[in-house]
Amino acid sequence: MKIAILGYGTVGRGVDRIVKGLDDIEVTRILELPDRCEGPRMTSDYTKIVDDPQIEAVLECMGGLEPAHTFIMQALQAGKSVVTSNKAVVAAYFDEFARTADEHGASLLIEATCGGGIPWIASIEKVRRIDEVSCLSGIMNGTTNFIVDAMIKNGADFAETLARAQELGYAEADPSADIDGIDVKNKTRIAVGVAFDTACVEDIPVTGIRTITKADLDLFAAHGRTVKLLGRAVQWEGRYAASVEPVALPSRSLEANVPSNFNIVSLEGATVGPLKFYGQGAGSLPTGNAMVQDVIDLAAGRRPKYDFSRGLAYDPALLAGDYVLRTAMPMPQGAEPYDQGAWLVRDIDPVAARALFDDALAADPTSFMAHVPQED
Ligand SMILES: NC(=O)c1ccc[n+]([C@@H]2O[C@H](COP(=O)([O-])OP(=O)(O)OC[C@H]3O[C@@H](n4cnc5c(N)ncnc54)[C@H](OP(=O)(O)O)[C@@H]3O)[C@@H](O)[C@H]2O)c1
Repeated sequence: MKIAILGYGTVGRGVDRIVKGLDDIEVTRILELPDRCEGPRMTSDYTKIVDDPQIEAVLECMGGLEPAHTFIMQALQAGKSVVTSNKAVVAAYFDEFARTADEHGASLLIEATCGGGIPWIASIEKVRRIDEVSCLSGIMNGTTNFIVDAMIKNGADFAETLARAQELGYAEADPSADIDGIDVKNKTRIAVGVAFDTACVEDIPVTGIRTITKADLDLFAAHGRTVKLLGRAVQWEGRYAASVEPVALPSRSLEANVPSNFNIVSLEGATVGPLKFYGQGAGSLPTGNAMVQDVIDLAAGRRPKYDFSRGLAYDPALLAGDYVLRTAMPMPQGAEPYDQGAWLVRDIDPVAARALFDDALAADPTSFMAHVPQED
């Protein structure tokens, strides 16, 4: 199968390296910026790719919304299948891409958008051949997991640990998408689409780890808990909910012990029960591996179809639970003392929790909040 790569950066180079070791796939074109085109495969003219009848699949790993959205649409409209690692563009246009692929006899393959090298999307699809997925959750961002894990292990504070993560290449120069939970939001919305056949609303509550301190981690540790940034989603009787927030998990849980920049993603199926998938959620070769696995699937005739006609209603009450807020803001009625400077607010949904956290940040910009699930 002849393929083209759009964007020759971290992921694009990983794809190229892996494909060089395979017999039946060939990278015949690479879209590069004009000043960086080298050798016969590289072009900065997308028509040379989208109009080439020999190219069956376009692998988009440029990132960002534009021109990625336009190039993906043009490829699908030309009947070419698209494999992408770009979670931002898929989260924003999943429905449109899926419909266009269907209309033009093409396929959209998105394994690399969630969980890097972990075969998570394909596993959700496999589970769904028999089961409904009732809930999914996971540590889906290696940067934030690295930061929290290193803060605990080294007794270091947030800013110092973020700087170290940047030095090691685990965090971007602008780390906002990671530490504010936007990256996990994109992945959670995509996973909801695959697992629940529903185009996930854009406006799910999202809280990151920007204000977490070593003292917060120590406080939760004294209660037998470890904080992790989780994407979560559930469906129940025609409704669904999704959120992204720090969660203070029991310290003995598998998730609480995920080290460094690793990811873990979990789901619950009606007959299969709970399943967990652990591995590298990012990186040139793990992510490249996920994209090439999609190409091999495509060559073998696996043509995933995403249909969002089910139209589940969004109801954040499905994720209602208890939250701990560490803040200097005077606490609302009904809050209980949890620990020094921290309050427990029981049984609120994640939208109400996020609103409460916004009030707390307005009064005290250093505030921190975590969902505290009940122990099994
Ligand atoms: N890195 C990972 O571990 C990882 C894991 C999972 C998913 N992803 C996703 O995969 C995508 C790519 O990530 P990455 O880390 O590989 O990014 P990257 O290293 O920045 O690579 C993207 C490349 O595409 C180039 N590019 C941008 N616009 C272009 C255009 N119009 N024509 C040709 N080339 C263009 C960029 O050039 P300039 O830099 O000069 O703009 C850059 O060389 C992103 O959506 C990311 O979220 C990455």
